[in-house]
Amino acid sequence: MTIIRIPKSWELPEREVTPEAAYFNRRRFLKTLVGASIGASIMPIMGCQSSSDTDKALTATLELPKLESIKTNPAFATVDRPVTNELLAGRYNNFYEFGTGKSIWQAAQALPTDGWKVEVTGAVKNPRTYDIDDLLKKFPLEERIYRFRCVEAWSMVLPWIGFPMKLLMAEVEPTSKAKFVQFISYDDPQLRIGPSWTLGGKLPWPYTEGLTLEEMANELAFFAVGLYGHLLPKQHGAPLREVVPWKYGFKGAKSIVKIEFVESQPATFWNTIDPHEYDFEANVNPNKPHPRWSQATEKFIGKGADFSWEKRDTLPYNGYGEYVAQLYGNK
Ligand code: MTE
Repeated sequence: MTIIRIPKSWELPEREVTPEAAYFNRRRFLKTLVGASIGASIMPIMGCQSSSDTDKALTATLELPKLESIKTNPAFATVDRPVTNELLAGRYNNFYEFGTGKSIWQAAQALPTDGWKVEVTGAVKNPRTYDIDDLLKKFPLEERIYRFRCVEAWSMVLPWIGFPMKLLMAEVEPTSKAKFVQFISYDDPQLRIGPSWTLGGKLPWPYTEGLTLEEMANELAFFAVGLYGHLLPKQHGAPLREVVPWKYGFKGAKSIVKIEFVESQPATFWNTIDPHEYDFEANVNPNKPHPRWSQATEKFIGKGADFSWEKRDTLPYNGYGEYVAQLYGNK
């Protein structure tokens, strides 16, 4: 068994041990950009529509083939707040394979997505390896506008395009042995930048996540292949990622290469690093503080091109209790 020594926060430069660190890095980035503190309740304009070289480069990362004739699922056509500005969502990412902080969206462009394959294996009757192009045609695609809540206490609203996970389950037919599923992200040690903290070189790559089978079969559980009407940008986890909107964002593994059905609870990246701070279930819960900060409220990011955030109460299950509360014995 690999023992991972978790450094104490005081051993790390600027508390860079958890996803929260990226948040603070981004705070610094945003501060640099706008020359003002995010600590104020309204954040000044970020220049999302400016014609700077940076914004042109960012726009290029978002100009991807459009996904035509996709219908929005009427059950998920609106939420209680506006969709986050695309340029903003496209540069405010967590993707530790490609570093920490402001340059992730640029570094992630090195992800080689051509000829992508996804292996579905383990306790299933019909194991399959899909070419991503076949996968895109295999299942009917739909748009769903979901709230997105990061464990770092910021949130967005994102218009995903993809298909429900339960369609893939029906295709591969998990056997009675399958109780959990593990999602495994692409990893190339040659390409990997990694976060600025390394845990002495013992980070549990590749990035992995997992769900129970009941969670995977839930109506909300979704595989995204697109965002904002086009194919998924690399910084958001092209060409295939998990979207489970009632859970914290770290549960949504990006750039999936393997999906494995297993008998017992699989290891996951953050849970291996610190099970006390990142539990396997990780349902959004305003009444369960993170050990180092409250989860009672969140900063909702992205109203139009004028970047501003507003404080909102965190919703139990991120507002999706009617779909998932029964999975956890709650009504
Ligand atoms: N998937 C991989 N492979 N690597 C990561 O570092 N970060 C997670 C999740 N999926 C991560 C990942 C975290 S902490 C968050 S909050 C979301 O991706 C961020 O998704 P976004 O950048 O599309 O907003």
